[in-house]
Amino acid sequence: MSVLVTGFTGKVGSEVAKKLKEKGIDYICTVRNVEESQERYGTQFNLKAFDFTDPSTFDSALEQIDQIFLMYPPGDDLKFEQFLHRAKERNVKHIVYLSVKDVQYLPFIHHFKNEKLIRKLGLPYTFIRAGYFMQNLTDFLGNEIKERQRIFIPAGKGKTSFVDTRDLAEVAAEVFQNPTNHRNQKYVVTGDHALDFYEVAEQMTEVLRVNISYDNPSVKEFRKYMIKKGIQEDFVKVVIGIHFPTKLGLARGISHDYEKLTNKKPIRMKTFIADNKDRWLKPGGP
Ligand SMILES: NC(=O)c1ccc[n+]([C@@H]2O[C@H](COP(=O)([O-])OP(=O)(O)OC[C@H]3O[C@@H](n4cnc5c(N)ncnc54)[C@H](OP(=O)(O)O)[C@@H]3O)[C@@H](O)[C@H]2O)c1
Repeated sequence: MSVLVTGFTGKVGSEVAKKLKEKGIDYICTVRNVEESQERYGTQFNLKAFDFTDPSTFDSALEQIDQIFLMYPPGDDLKFEQFLHRAKERNVKHIVYLSVKDVQYLPFIHHFKNEKLIRKLGLPYTFIRAGYFMQNLTDFLGNEIKERQRIFIPAGKGKTSFVDTRDLAEVAAEVFQNPTNHRNQKYVVTGDHALDFYEVAEQMTEVLRVNISYDNPSVKEFRKYMIKKGIQEDFVKVVIGIHFPTKLGLARGISHDYEKLTNKKPIRMKTFIADNKDRWLKPGGP
């Protein structure tokens, strides 16, 4: 029996797959386009076609699966509830669901409803309520950092509880190894320091030896700039929404669940920056 990893090409799923491989736990990765992913990753991962919008992919993905790393992707028409029902019918033994820190105060977001649904179905679960991913700096914040040496996001002066997705993967792997110890638990997984984006820019400047600024645009400036750049309006709205609690000073809470679960210190921002410096540096300098 194996673990099914959803969102394998994403910031967390990719790390979960690596971690499971490292620990010798059997797993299968799901992707929407197997051919494309094989070209990108080669044959080192066992890939299966799966799409949350297409229930005809559910049964084959769930073959020989007893645990799932479950993420909720962006997009419409997801048959998420149907997938959970199928997992229950096929006797899946444990779900590790990637949720978000402070979800209990956010009844209007998908994660709130999804956690409730998983509980209602009686599927044994562990919720990983994650802080703000450091990997956002290489993902949707990466282009402005690389091209214009600036962090461009309307997050005000608020601090946020950054976490490296490698640490989320470490927690997920621990749960998959010992599911009964973590049955029906909720873990809040963050780093051990909340930072504002001015501090992140300072640390990037120090580690990269390139001057990186934090521009702190207003929501209006950010929206206008991103739309002019050709970014989809729906995505821009999501990004603004993610950073709104930070702007209000509500995202700074730190948890020590990571350390308690793994006996290790969480990865710090400077390490994350050093490990990823090639993602922002241009050959020949800025
Ligand atoms: N960013 C943060 O700071 C943060 C913090 C806490 C929680 N979260 C939560 O983390 C989740 C996102 O995880 P992530 O950042 O690792 O993902 P990500 O990097 O945004 O990648 C999205 C993943 O979803 C897959 N996907 C998209 N549509 C799909 C579909 N219809 N069916 C199956 N797979 C699909 C993509 O696969 P393809 O290769 O097929 O496109 C990709 O692997 C969200 O639920 C978010 O709310 C994010």
